[in-house]
Amino acid sequence: MKLTDRIAVITGGASGIGLATARLFAAEGARLALVDRDADGLAAAVAELGAATAIGLCGDVGAEADVAAAAATVLETYGRIDILFAAAGISLGKSVPDTTLEGWDSVIRTGLTGSFLWSRAVIPAMRREGRGAIVLVASQLAFSGGRSNAAYLASKGGIVSLGRCMANDHAAEGIRVNVVVPGAIDTPMLRRSHARTGDPDAARARSIARHPLGRLGQAEEVARAVLFLVSDDASFTTGSCLMVDGGWIAG
Ligand code: NAI
Repeated sequence: MKLTDRIAVITGGASGIGLATARLFAAEGARLALVDRDADGLAAAVAELGAATAIGLCGDVGAEADVAAAAATVLETYGRIDILFAAAGISLGKSVPDTTLEGWDSVIRTGLTGSFLWSRAVIPAMRREGRGAIVLVASQLAFSGGRSNAAYLASKGGIVSLGRCMANDHAAEGIRVNVVVPGAIDTPMLRRSHARTGDPDAARARSIARHPLGRLGQAEEVARAVLFLVSDDASFTTGSCLMVDGGWIAG
C-alpha cells in the first residue's frame, strides 16, 4: 500500500473526482478528512468508507472561519496532516458580459480561494513534520483555452500559478506541490455543464470528440494520477502539471 498511515485532507470529497480519490486513498491505507459543503453527500461518503478511516467536515472551502475550524479538527483527530487534495470547484458556464459579480466571486472563491485557504491551513502542520504533498486541480481548459466559462477558466489559470509558486516556496521544507489537469471527466459537474447547454447529448458528443482517446475520462483515472503525485513514487516531482486529459491539450 502506498499511503499507509498517511493523513489526507480531500476537499470536494463528497462527489466526483474527490470521492473517487478518497476511495483510492483509503484502499492505499490513508486516513481521511473529507471536506464538502454537501452534508448528505459527506455523510454517505463517510458511511461508505467507515468511521475508522474517514471523518467528514461540512463547510465552505472559501470561508476562512470554516477552513480554520476544519483544519483544527483534523489536527485534533489525527495529530498531523500529510496530504492535501484540493478538489472542490464549481463552474458557471458564462462569458464575461453574462457573468454577475456574485457569480464571478462564487467561482473564484470556491476554486482559487479555496485552494489558497486550505493550503495556508495545512502548510504549517506539514512544515512541522518536514514533509507534505499538496495537489491542486486545474483543467485542460486552463491550457487549451475554452469559451463561455470565463470565471472558471480564470480560476483554473490562477490555480496553476498558485501551485507553481507554492512548489518553489516550500520545496526546501519537504513539501511538494503539484497540479492535476483533468480533461472532461464523467462526473456530476460535467453532466450539469452539459445540461446547461439545453442539448446535453450533443454537448456530451462534442466533449467526447475533443479527446484523441475518443471518450470521457473517469474520476478513478484522475484519482490514480493524484495517488501518484502524493505518494513517494513522485518524490522528485514538484511544480508539475500532470495532464489526465485523454490527449485534449495535444489534440
Ligand atoms: P463534482 O461537482 O462532482 O464535485 C465537486 C464537489 O465540491 C461537490 O461535492 C461539491 O459539493 C463540492 N463543493 C463545491 N463548492 C464547494 C464549497 N464552496 N465548499 C465545499 N465544497 C464544495 O465535480 P468534479 O467533476 O468531481 O470536480 C472536482 C474538481 O475537478 C473541480 O475542481 C473541477 O473544477 C475539476 N475538474 C473537473 C472536470 C470535469 O470534467 N468533471 C474537468 C477539469 C477539472
